[in-house]
Amino acid sequence: MVDLFDKLKMEAGSLAKYSHLPDDYFFFPKLEGEIGPRMMFNGRQVLNWSLNNYLGLANHPEVRKADTEATAKYGLASPMGARMMSGNSVHHLEFERQLADFVKKEDVMLLNYGYQGVVSIIDALVDRKDVIVYDGESHACIIDGVRLHMGKRFVYPHNNIENLEKQLQRATRIANETGGGILVITEGVFGMSGNMGDLKGIVALKQKYNFRLFVDDAHGFGTMGKTGAGAGEEQGVQDQIDLYFSTFAKSMASIGAFVAGSTKILKYLRYSVRSQIFAKSLPLPLVIGGMKRLELLRTQPELKANLWKIFRAMQSGLKERGFYIGTTQSPVTPVIFNGGVGEAANMSMDLRENYGIFCSVVIYPVVPKDIIMFRIIPTAAHSLEDVEETLTAFSALKAKLDSGFYRKEELVSVTKGM
Ligand SMILES: Cc1ncc(COP(=O)(O)O)c(C=O)c1O
Repeated sequence: MVDLFDKLKMEAGSLAKYSHLPDDYFFFPKLEGEIGPRMMFNGRQVLNWSLNNYLGLANHPEVRKADTEATAKYGLASPMGARMMSGNSVHHLEFERQLADFVKKEDVMLLNYGYQGVVSIIDALVDRKDVIVYDGESHACIIDGVRLHMGKRFVYPHNNIENLEKQLQRATRIANETGGGILVITEGVFGMSGNMGDLKGIVALKQKYNFRLFVDDAHGFGTMGKTGAGAGEEQGVQDQIDLYFSTFAKSMASIGAFVAGSTKILKYLRYSVRSQIFAKSLPLPLVIGGMKRLELLRTQPELKANLWKIFRAMQSGLKERGFYIGTTQSPVTPVIFNGGVGEAANMSMDLRENYGIFCSVVIYPVVPKDIIMFRIIPTAAHSLEDVEETLTAFSALKAKLDSGFYRKEELVSVTKGM
């Protein structure tokens, strides 16, 4: 027997060898100041491309006003208790009604957090007789929901509809034996690659197979579709999505989430989703502030139009300069290079320290070992000048990477000030 803590590889992790560097540099960095394109990092201003504040609502004056007034009026405690027991309010019900109207579903349930909500919804929907079929690039909350499942689960390679059909055939055989049903889970917009889930391809299979579709549209809500109602609207299949989910942590620039669907299934979920039944309901300022955000999202289409202008300029600028940005169909803009973890760290540090640009970098094990992925998140608050500045910096970075400059082990060598 071993001591539990001794067994844990505390020093493990691809970037642990850089842990001698200033605290909170690569991991847990502190971006300070008002949320927006220019923020403070490590004592200096940076051009920031790492927040999912897609519509720039985080600091919209009307949003700030609504948040402040609701907090002054109600504080953060109200209402106390879980929705089911003592934590309900007319505002919660009204927000649910407005969200349901907006995403064109019969009913909506608010959730405290997206992550917990998704895990718990999946848990509530299936028992050991049922089969889950899900996209291989799914977010951790989907994976964790699937991990709770006691029955069979099949994964299909990302957006591979042919393979999905094979998995549905296997799932159908099992469900026929057990007397269970089938749940298919995908994302509307995938947060790493920026690809949309092939919702059209998936719902077409409903003609041949009997399954229910759950779509996590965390990155599509507010950014995709004519009205901003998400990837289902964008692909013209919103009515075929049985459960539509989004968090408020991205376009809505807040905390919380919702799930939308038919009155019947929502009634079941209200009495079954454990992350809601056994947790305090959303505080009123988040609910009232949420309604203000939804109002702006609905009534100010220029926010989404601006986001699209910025991300299109960024993506076409990157492509014109020979960068590989994968197959994104959304604002999420991956910039993909070949290189190791050390090079990724050096590049990221160079970008921050010498070009004044803060952008998240994704490395192994999230992407394969020899891949470096910078993940640019354009927002409506950015300008075309910000895009230009970033394109110039990335061109310089690429030239240095190609010349082998970043192959040095010592990060300090790349920086001026550290
Ligand atoms: C696809 C997806 N689903 C769910 C979540 C979780 O949302 P929340 O931050 O509200 O827990 C996220 C956020 O990172 C996400 O990207």
